[in-house]
Amino acid sequence: VFSAIEMAPRDPILGITEAFNADTNPGKINLGVGVYYDDNGKVPLLACVKKAEAILIEQSAPRTYLPIEGLAAYDKAVQELVFGADSAVIQEKRAVTVQAIGGTGALKIGADFLQRFAPGAQVYISDPSWENHRALFESAGFKVNNYTYYDPSTHGVNFAGMLADLKAMPAGSIVLLHACCHNPTGADLTQAEWDQVIAVIAANNLVPFLDMAYQGFGAGIAEDGAVVRRFAATGGPLLVSNSFSKSFSLYGERVGALSVVASSAEEASRLLSQLKRVVRTNYSNPPVHGGKTVATVLTSPELRQLWEDELAGMRVRIKEMRDALVKKLKEKAPSHDFEFVRQQVGMFSYSGLTKQQVDALRAESIYAVDTGRICVAALNSTNIDKVVDAIAKVL
Ligand code: LMR
Repeated sequence: VFSAIEMAPRDPILGITEAFNADTNPGKINLGVGVYYDDNGKVPLLACVKKAEAILIEQSAPRTYLPIEGLAAYDKAVQELVFGADSAVIQEKRAVTVQAIGGTGALKIGADFLQRFAPGAQVYISDPSWENHRALFESAGFKVNNYTYYDPSTHGVNFAGMLADLKAMPAGSIVLLHACCHNPTGADLTQAEWDQVIAVIAANNLVPFLDMAYQGFGAGIAEDGAVVRRFAATGGPLLVSNSFSKSFSLYGERVGALSVVASSAEEASRLLSQLKRVVRTNYSNPPVHGGKTVATVLTSPELRQLWEDELAGMRVRIKEMRDALVKKLKEKAPSHDFEFVRQQVGMFSYSGLTKQQVDALRAESIYAVDTGRICVAALNSTNIDKVVDAIAKVL
């Protein structure tokens, strides 16, 4: 049964971490995966998380199963964070939320759910998108297409092309959108552009699926979440996957959620019953610790404030690294213009480096994604000069 199975290709992002881990060079730098490191090159354990965990240890609660849809306090806190506490979709009980195994788990629950109830629909993702989007929706059984997004000549969004593609999609198509901090390009839509996107999606009866893995890394928690609220206000169907991997630095705890907005409370209860079937047949119910930790922080005014401050600190440090990268590249590679790096939002920079240049960096134990995506959040005051020198050399 196994003899004819071929070797699968390495994952384009996590495969880089595998190669990085195998590298014995003590000076190696991983700019591949989207993980935030502090200025000492360490993945932070946030103070709000430490305090919440101290409370949980004190409680010493038994580890019984959570409900299929997850911890009630967590799901409620997620809804309020994603849609806003005063949101009509919450008040009218039109939103349902299930705790998920990270943002990827949320996408997978959403994809399996849509495959059950809209099997003929096609999925559209941005060109380019997070590598796993295509793989995940294809493995759920969908045909996955691209819509125009990134324009390499401007390092920004080809908005006219995007809008034209949205207008040409058949009704019922599922459109995957990055709510903020577009992965991999760092190029986001303006508020005025979002208005047009929302109008076309509503008018053409498309199904928006917002992936929000980086809330708080763009302009702020509320600012980054605003687009979700505007979609919710249209009254149309909506799916939102969100993740606390980055915003709580809880990567390995796998804490995310899928929220779905229905047209009525009655419809919402039917959707929830079906989402629970998807969860039950995949992994039964979610793990306890990460969900409890996040719920403890989000429901305590003091810990919530601490979290917001710590998240702001991460956001500011990334911006400082963008500035430093641009400034230093200007000195070391004056014939190349990297000013665009300052305009990009979130953890990533689509640097414009070619696959050959990325390979050349790898020979120096500096790891980036083959597409040229680098994680600016992995730069720090100690490693940035080495990275800049290496980029200047490969240019
Ligand atoms: C990334 O894009 O690097 C992150 O979202 C991590 C992942 O799972 O790929």
